[in-house]
Order: sequence, then C-alpha cells, then structure tokens
Amino acid sequence: MMHLVTILILALAGQAFDINHDACTNYLVTRGASADGSNIITYAADSHVLYGALYHYPAADHAPGEMRKIIDWDSGEYIGQIPEVAHTYNVIGNQNEWAPSQPGAIVDYGSLIYIALQRSKTAREAIKVMTDLVAQYGYASEGESFSIGDPNELWVMEMIGKGAGEKGAVWVARRIPDGMICAHANQARITTFPLNDPDNCYYSADVVDFAKRKGLYPASAPADQFSFSDAYNPITFDGARFCDVRVWSFFRKFVNGMDAYLEYAKGYNLTTRMPLWVRPVAKIMVFDVMNAMRDHLEGTWFDFRGDAGAEAFGLPYRWRPLTWDLDGKTYFNERTVATQQTGWSFVSQMRSWLPAPLAGLFWFGVDDTAGTVYAPFYGSATRVPWNYDTRNGDMMTFSFDSAFWVFNLVTNFAYQRYSIIQPEIAMKIQDYEMRYLNETVNVDVQAMKLYQSSPASAVEYLTAYSEKTGSALVQDWLTFFKYLFVKYMDGNVKVADPKHPNPQAGAKYRYPTK
Ligand SMILES: *[C@@H]1O[C@H](CO)[C@@H](O)[C@H](O)[C@H]1NC(C)=O
Ligand SMILES: *[C@@H]1O[C@H](CO)[C@@H](O)[C@H](O)[C@H]1NC(C)=O
Repeated sequence: MMHLVTILILALAGQAFDINHDACTNYLVTRGASADGSNIITYAADSHVLYGALYHYPAADHAPGEMRKIIDWDSGEYIGQIPEVAHTYNVIGNQNEWAPSQPGAIVDYGSLIYIALQRSKTAREAIKVMTDLVAQYGYASEGESFSIGDPNELWVMEMIGKGAGEKGAVWVARRIPDGMICAHANQARITTFPLNDPDNCYYSADVVDFAKRKGLYPASAPADQFSFSDAYNPITFDGARFCDVRVWSFFRKFVNGMDAYLEYAKGYNLTTRMPLWVRPVAKIMVFDVMNAMRDHLEGTWFDFRGDAGAEAFGLPYRWRPLTWDLDGKTYFNERTVATQQTGWSFVSQMRSWLPAPLAGLFWFGVDDTAGTVYAPFYGSATRVPWNYDTRNGDMMTFSFDSAFWVFNLVTNFAYQRYSIIQPEIAMKIQDYEMRYLNETVNVDVQAMKLYQSSPASAVEYLTAYSEKTGSALVQDWLTFFKYLFVKYMDGNVKVADPKHPNPQAGAKYRYPTK
C-alpha cells in the first residue's frame, strides 16, 4: 500500500502506493515555478466513504504525561497512543499556522500527517518528526508518498513500512529544486537518489540494506544505483495507467515533450520512467493549478467522452468498479484526477513574503474537483464555518447546510446530462474563484495592516473572512442547485416565458431548447 501526503505552511498530504485506484492525487509547484512566488501543494482525498469536511486542530498546550490517541485515518479505528508534546500548533485542513501490517505499530500515515502539522514549523522539521515517530512507534501503514512544504521549500518523501518482521519504515525524502514542478498519485516515483547530498536528500540509514535483506535488490549491487521505487513499489501496467497517468497529465499542461511518455502513461512501455520533476515553460498561476485538479484527460489519447460509457452527454465519469471481468477478459476505465468520489481537496499556497499567520492560504473544496469551488481558508484561522465542520452531517447523514452534501447535489445532478449542465456549473465556479482570488489580494493587505499593531486581530480578521466566505458560498450553492433543478429537470431545458410565467395558467413554456 502506498498513500501520498502533503505538509503545508507547513502543508502536508500523502497517499498510498498500492494500486488503490480510488485514492489520491498530489501536485507540487515550487515558488520559482509559480506566478506569485508561492509554494503550492495540491491534494485530492478520494474515497467512496470519506466525508468532505475541513479539519481543525486548535493550538494547545499540554501537561507533562498527557497522551495523544492515534485513530487510523482511513478506518477510524483506535490503534494506540503516544506522548503529547508541550505545545501543538493550530491546524486548518492540511495547513498549520506556520504554515496494521506491522503488529504493535501505532502511527498510520494519516495520523502522521496531522501530528507532524501540529508539531512542526518547517518542512525539514516535519520530515524529522515523521521519521522519528515511525522509528519509535512503528508504522501502521504500508507505502506512502508525502508532499511536504513550507513557504521556502517543497519536499517529496516516500516511505514503506518494514512489515511484520521489523519495526519502523524505510524512506527517502528529496527536496524539489526551485523552479520545478512535481507530482505523485498512488505510485512511488523516487527512483535513484543522491547518497551524499544532505541538504537536498534525506533517507533512512537502512533503505538499501533492508531491500538487500528482503531480496528486493541484489546483495552485490552498488548502493548509488539503488532505485527506491523499483525495489519497493515497482511500476506495473496499473501503476502507469491508473496512477502515473495523472502525473503525465499534469506535466503535459506545463512542459513540452510529454508525448515521449505517452506509451508509458498508457502502461504499454514501462522502460523509461518520467522525470521526478520538470521545469514548466512559463510561471504557473494558482488558478491554473486549481484547474489542473479538474482534469479528465480531455484532449488526450485517453479522452473517453466519446465512448459508449459516456452515453449521450459526454460523461467523463465511470461508476465503480474501475476494472471488471467478462468472459475471461479484464476490462477497465480510465482513472482521472477529477472523480466522483473525492471527499475533499485543496490547493495550498505557502507565501514566504508574508508573516506566518498570513502566509498560508488554503484553498479548500469538497466533492468532485470539477464541481467544487476552492474557497479561501487561512492557515491561522481559529474557527471553521459550520458548513464545513466535521460535525455537520456525515457520510450517512444528509445536511442541507453542509458543503459536502450541497456540492454533491449539484454534481450528481450534472452527471445526468453532463455536456448540457456542466458548462453552466464551470462558469459559476470560475466566477467565484476569480472573485476570491481578487478579494484575497485585498484581504492580505488589510490583514497586514492589522498585523503591524496586533497579530491577534489579524488572525481574527482572517478567521472571520474565511467563515463568512465559506458560509455564503454554501448558501449560494444551494440556491444554485434549486435553479439548476428547475431548469433541467426531467430531461428538459426550461426557459421561463415572461409573458406567461405560469404554465398551469394555460400558457406555454418553451422546452426543450436544445
Ligand atoms: C520502449 O521505450 C523505449 C525508450 O523509451 C524504446 O527504446 C523501446 O524501443 C520501446 N519499446 C517498444 C517495444 O516499443
Ligand atoms: C479581478 O480583478 C481584475 C483586475 O483588478 C479585474 O479585471 C477583474 O474583473 C476582477 N474579477 C472579478 C471576478 O472580480
């Protein structure tokens, strides 16, 4: 299993490298590659049973002897406890204010992310916290890729639990050179790595020896040719076609020459892996990154909007399972970044030119990325709007004021006749996001003014802004659903006739218009 993770202003996310088709996507843009100079990490948490809500862990002081319970992030099961540290930082989503395969192992990958966010100020600190925790308490997950970032640096770390026989994990962490972009999606991507570049690459002391002991790397082979992925999570057809295709699709938007890896992305020729990072031809805007998260492989060889499964309205979604057998053959659908089962996703910006409480801007959305609006939440916010609260509804409990349920109403309605309904949704999303991107420029300025005299009042101002914005968005989206439902119900496209507004009064309404 491998998951992938990102740490933000510190931001953190991660995801398993099993071929967990329903798992996640991570994109990373270094500050030298982004238009406004922010480090950017994106993450989509995809699961059919994951409720979309914004997690909040308030900053806290802890008495000596206080313990922190570890609940497995995927299953919700209690797996053990570890000592608290004296102070934990505020965490909003996967950003902080600074920015059971192994018996007895206590720390799973999801807990590792949130504990590291509570205990670290920088990406390097987070790597240390995470790797120390698994060394001390064991690693209750299997393979994971983590994206770890602060305003100055972005790192990708891949980690594999040692399994039943030994405690802990083997891992490699590489700093992404400034100016580059990187991506990972449920498939280990670190191959060879420098053994002697301690400023840019960390690894567990036994990463090569453990592979040799397990017969995953020849005992006589040189350490400097050791490839982490080839030993611990080798590429397969599934790994390329369902996982690395999402990396390929991201890279091809921003660099030339990715056609050379088309046969690789198809899973047909695995001899040449894609580079771990690439340099984009132009600086990337936050807005471009949000849209990259909405990809369905449109305009590529994989585009499936015209096949039989798309039915009459070019649907770029396929219901699960992703693969199935018929008459002794296995068939599959494509796995795209935008997918119906996303619980929540984010685009997190870490901005080195602002003081810590302002530096982290966490663009958060629930449900399918192609149907979500990324709303601005500051990493220092001390409250989450009720509409995004983890206690408002759950996967089995509908709530009309929960962002997750309201956005699902709209997307699931659009799936009925996608090519007709979705364009209107896409425009609406763009209107909101452009407005927020504009607004936050001014919010930053106002917060900076407050910060000069009182950091606490700046934090309160940012909290109130995020609260007001998130809550208004969910109300607006419910109104939008009502409008869409009226207009598109029963296979029609209804337009009101101003002369005869009420058909029951004997007048006509026009339908269908298309
Ligand atoms: C696979 O790709 C490699 C390099 O990209 C190339 O040299 C090789 O000929 C390809 N193999 C096939 C069977 O096409
Ligand atoms: C955002 O700001 C730009 C420049 O100030 C302006 O041209 C644009 O109309 C604004 N967009 C929205 C949606 O407010």
